[in-house]
Amino acid sequence: MINAIAEAPTRDGLIERRHPDPFTFVIFGAAGDLAHRKLFPALYNLMFDGWLPAECRILGVARRQYGDAEFREEIRAAVMRYSRRQPDSEVLDRLMANTMYVTADFNDGAQYQALKTILQDPEQGFPQNYLFYLATPPSAYPAIASHLGSHGLARPFDGKHWVRIIVEKPFGHDLDSAVALNGHLHQVFDESQIYRIDHYLGKETVQNILVFRFANGIFEPLWTRQYIDQVQITVAESLGVAGRGSYYDQAGALRDMVQNHMLQLVSLIAMEPPVAFEADAVRDEKVKVLRSIRPFTTRDVADWTVRAQYEGGTVEGEPVPGYLDEPDIASDSRTESYVALRLLIDNWRWAGVPFYLRTGKRLPKRATEIAIQFKTAPHRFFLQTDTPELAPNLLTLKIQPDEGISLRFGAKVPGPAIKVRTVNMEFLYGTSFDGTPPEAYERLLLDAMVGDSTLFTRKDEVEAAWALVSSILRGWWRARGPIPTYDAGTWGPEEADAMIERNGFRWRKP
Ligand SMILES: NC(=O)c1ccc[n+]([C@@H]2O[C@H](COP(=O)([O-])OP(=O)(O)OC[C@H]3O[C@@H](n4cnc5c(N)ncnc54)[C@H](OP(=O)(O)O)[C@@H]3O)[C@@H](O)[C@H]2O)c1
Repeated sequence: MINAIAEAPTRDGLIERRHPDPFTFVIFGAAGDLAHRKLFPALYNLMFDGWLPAECRILGVARRQYGDAEFREEIRAAVMRYSRRQPDSEVLDRLMANTMYVTADFNDGAQYQALKTILQDPEQGFPQNYLFYLATPPSAYPAIASHLGSHGLARPFDGKHWVRIIVEKPFGHDLDSAVALNGHLHQVFDESQIYRIDHYLGKETVQNILVFRFANGIFEPLWTRQYIDQVQITVAESLGVAGRGSYYDQAGALRDMVQNHMLQLVSLIAMEPPVAFEADAVRDEKVKVLRSIRPFTTRDVADWTVRAQYEGGTVEGEPVPGYLDEPDIASDSRTESYVALRLLIDNWRWAGVPFYLRTGKRLPKRATEIAIQFKTAPHRFFLQTDTPELAPNLLTLKIQPDEGISLRFGAKVPGPAIKVRTVNMEFLYGTSFDGTPPEAYERLLLDAMVGDSTLFTRKDEVEAAWALVSSILRGWWRARGPIPTYDAGTWGPEEADAMIERNGFRWRKP
């Protein structure tokens, strides 16, 4: 059954309209992995839920030679394989019927004229609002943007029709390349037309950070340096480079995870309340956090960052090779598959509170979480009794898997003596709400379709994040010699333990 409800109540009881105008969705790179695994299933689920307008047309563009029928079958196979829901054949047929494919080389300007002719042919009936998606190698972004511009396909909103462009990650390789890419895009598109995607922001649990902080009265007063001792953010993966060796070896964990996803999590946790839940108000506060993070000097990089590579080991019961033995990894690579670091945020709310970030491949399990550790009670008068290991209060926001929130506190063990034990109060999404939550790409595609850029990164945010990360990259570049290693299936190198222990803390085991 098709759910036709495409409206959500807002705080003032009005109905928030999230019906996109009729539009044409042009996917550059439609023959690729991202389109198959994420974009087609997301479009299918949006259509199933009644969010797509009847006049939504999809045009795939890539180098591969497909006929329309063949391309539609690709979509069917991708939805059957990757959709979070069992596909409904009527909806799938409708999606496919709205789809066309054009073979083109992104670097060939003449082919954009052909694309324009198709898009503007009244017989074809493509809606004249265009949403372009760059699901292509990043090296193709500047060429596509400038060809769209030179063919008049990038016009700003003219009061009637809009054009928007979604740009995939990675957005640049360092600060200079990110600034250059922003420059390229801005020669053609206005910032309001550009949607830089970070799929972490489309995750329900990540958006819930804002709801948790700003829709509840009890947490925000405690959300300061007066009550919080440290924050730990972990993005652990049990997978290795998983067939992406040539990309990953050029990137590494810092660029692949920290620059985008993890700094986004930091900014959501640390931001001030925005004046409204609107794109620029939210992003103004996020960028202030990024700018307040203390840049790393060469000395800081040595003291407060650790990078490492996995060696062979056992993960989830399976023997796995070391990083250097993975396909497409240079035998003398110094690229990090693990990074741990300490950030300091120099502002009134957070001065002196360390934020520890760590991410790595081939760790014991897949887990993303934010753990906020509160200061201990000022006077522990239960110490005289049997409370040897009373741990500080800990609020854990679990992003994936097992999405939820848990609060750790001390409770009296039943019995005649005062014996205190640490217990957890748990909220689990899966048990409190029905149904599978939408995939991040569903939420973000719909946002771009309705012109809501709140959950997309703005130019200044991307550049502030790269400025920080580049200060670390510079320090690493100066350091010579081998980088530390860790056995696959462990929680990382000893050096990362030593780093956090210098501040009197320990890494959590998610
Ligand atoms: N895959 C993921 O899960 C994922 C996740 C996050 C971000 N991303 C980002 O999304 C983007 C796409 O990734 P992907 O994994 O889908 O890559 P991919 O599988 O290599 O697909 C790239 C697509 O671009 C097309 N293409 C490349 N060069 C072209 C050219 N000169 N002219 C015409 N078509 C060209 C390819 O067409 P042909 O196949 O026809 O040659 C293919 O359709 C990348 O920026 C990646 O970093 C991907």
